[in-house]
Amino acid sequence: MAPAAPFNPPSADLPGKPSVPKWVPPPATQEKHNFAQLKSIDLSLLDSDDPAVVEELIQQVKIAIRDDGFLFLENYGVSLEQLHRQFSLAQYLYHNITDEDKERLLFSPETGAWSGYKHPYGFKRHRAQPDGIEQFNWYKPDWEDQENRVPKCLLPFMDEIETFCNYLTKSVNRRLLTLFSRVLELPDDYLWNSVQSHGSPTGEGYFRHALFRPVQQQTQEASKGLRMHGHTDFGLTTLLFSVPISCLQIWGQDEQWYYVPYKPGALVINIGDTLEIVSGGHFRATRHRVYKPPQDQLSYERLSLVLFNSSLGDLRMMPAAESPLIQREGCVEEQGVYKEFKKLTSQGNVVPTNRQWREIQIATCTDPTDTVRNRVGADQVLIDGKVMHQREYMGVKVVLPV
Ligand SMILES: [Fe+2]
Repeated sequence: MAPAAPFNPPSADLPGKPSVPKWVPPPATQEKHNFAQLKSIDLSLLDSDDPAVVEELIQQVKIAIRDDGFLFLENYGVSLEQLHRQFSLAQYLYHNITDEDKERLLFSPETGAWSGYKHPYGFKRHRAQPDGIEQFNWYKPDWEDQENRVPKCLLPFMDEIETFCNYLTKSVNRRLLTLFSRVLELPDDYLWNSVQSHGSPTGEGYFRHALFRPVQQQTQEASKGLRMHGHTDFGLTTLLFSVPISCLQIWGQDEQWYYVPYKPGALVINIGDTLEIVSGGHFRATRHRVYKPPQDQLSYERLSLVLFNSSLGDLRMMPAAESPLIQREGCVEEQGVYKEFKKLTSQGNVVPTNRQWREIQIATCTDPTDTVRNRVGADQVLIDGKVMHQREYMGVKVVLPV
């Protein structure tokens, strides 16, 4: 394969661009316990002329996504300096966004989209308990009407942010989907052409600048240290940049939470529900949560950049029957969401479309600080003596570790 072109963003020094202070990565934790061992994939190997190298790469991916549901991605075409510029822009946003813009661009999650500014008071438009999490999310309409839908302080830099998202979606994610298509023994562009949504720098998905500030005692007590509930992402793939403040945790095979270690410049790839279902359970949707960091990082702010790749909204999720892997080996029946969807279809019911699946989860999202919902008898159940978080969306039961 011809080598993929590296990221080549517009200059940071164009006339009219304010100077942006450099983001200085906070120190990584000294804590060594409870960290996951993640497999790392070198994406540049996909360009190798040696078929044996490419085949070895695909086998590595196959094992990582079936066993763990997550992996590190390296050498994907964005340098550390280019990446830090994007973090500097995110930091600039939170230092410069005006109260007027926070109000004007306030999100409305009840519509099924996170589009706009999230205040640090929970995941509803009305203010609940403080959660210390601010976000800005770009969806298709936000790219199309930047003057009215993007914070004024970021307008001079939208050329860089948009180019970055286009590169992540159309180069990095496309190559990743090529790898995944090959694992399913399908044509290289199968997932890109038939499942991934298109039509904007983020398709029907979204890009996020997130800032997690340290929380007050009261918030910490209400949420028991949880910053975001354990969940799987509803989309296709999620591209998270590895950050020094360790808050992201993944659910291990041994049913324990582990922090994701910091690997400078690497991407953490989450498999979403759609991919679990399309692959007939051969890929496992990543179960993850956001938790307070180790003791030595409790006083630091955590800046995070994430791209959520979304599948086509009108698709009803089902296994790709044309996959030779699925034809030969059948589906992997024990995977969570896949199993629930299978149950629904076998009862003769219609499964949700990708858009319905995405929107219902956003519209009904609950907060870790919600002490009324987060207890056994409400959103929690006891299964084999373990407390689990249980929700039901459109007839699909979702049970996740707390
Ligand atoms: Fe997530």
